[in-house]
Amino acid sequence: MAEERKCFDASKIETKGLHDLVSYVDKESEIRIIRALKAILPESGFIAEEGTSDKHSERFNWVIDPLDGTTNFIQGVPVYAVSIGLLDGDELVLGVVYEVGRSECFYAWKGGGAYLNGVPIRVSERGNIHDALLATGFPYNDFSRLDDYMKLLKWTMTNARGVRRMGSAATDMAYVACGRFDAFWEYDLKPWDVAAGTVIVKEAGGSVTDYKGGNSYLFGREIVASNGLLDEIILEQLNPKP
Ligand code: IPD
Ligand code: CA
Ligand code: CA
Repeated sequence: MAEERKCFDASKIETKGLHDLVSYVDKESEIRIIRALKAILPESGFIAEEGTSDKHSERFNWVIDPLDGTTNFIQGVPVYAVSIGLLDGDELVLGVVYEVGRSECFYAWKGGGAYLNGVPIRVSERGNIHDALLATGFPYNDFSRLDDYMKLLKWTMTNARGVRRMGSAATDMAYVACGRFDAFWEYDLKPWDVAAGTVIVKEAGGSVTDYKGGNSYLFGREIVASNGLLDEIILEQLNPKP
């Protein structure tokens, strides 16, 4: 993928929706990943962003974002990743996020811990919002919740050490897992954006919830991932008492 970036043909970009781009690199990446995963686990199914396979399995389903951070990739901003999670029934059991630009492979499996290039990783221990570096994704085509989003953004900007918008949700979550970020939130994310990151954050000791503190984050299009110390204060802001 890094090689493809060097000779990338920007004239072949397609538009999937408002501000939502896809390239031949996304599609080819997904074809190759699915081919390789079929060889590893022939009976498995797929939930994959570019729709290469619609096979669903009773038990094992891979949740794949073949290129998370397409806009960055297209523009030459070096933050993009491949994200692969594995569902066993409705439980996420394995996750891999490979951040291409930095050759960093984050991975975890249920009960096995989380790793970055083979070295165990843990979430940060920062429990004070004023010491925290947060990550988010700005809404870019679903503006239905923009007002509430802006309220939380304002609160985080005025209370946290800093707020970053990397442009790759999978990378954001991997960075929470290894303590570079202390928490991350975003709405309108799809399962392939967050599946792998969820396993990695949880196995690194962090927490992952929806905006109410519940478990509807994989298909529920809203997520808060944190070091397990900052989730409460962020959830309080998301659910202000009347
Ligand atoms: C996008 C990235 C981005 C997030 C968007 C996603 P894509 O994924 O993760 O950070 O803000 O919501 O759609 O389209 O580059 O795979
Ligand atoms: Ca994505
Ligand atoms: Ca993608």
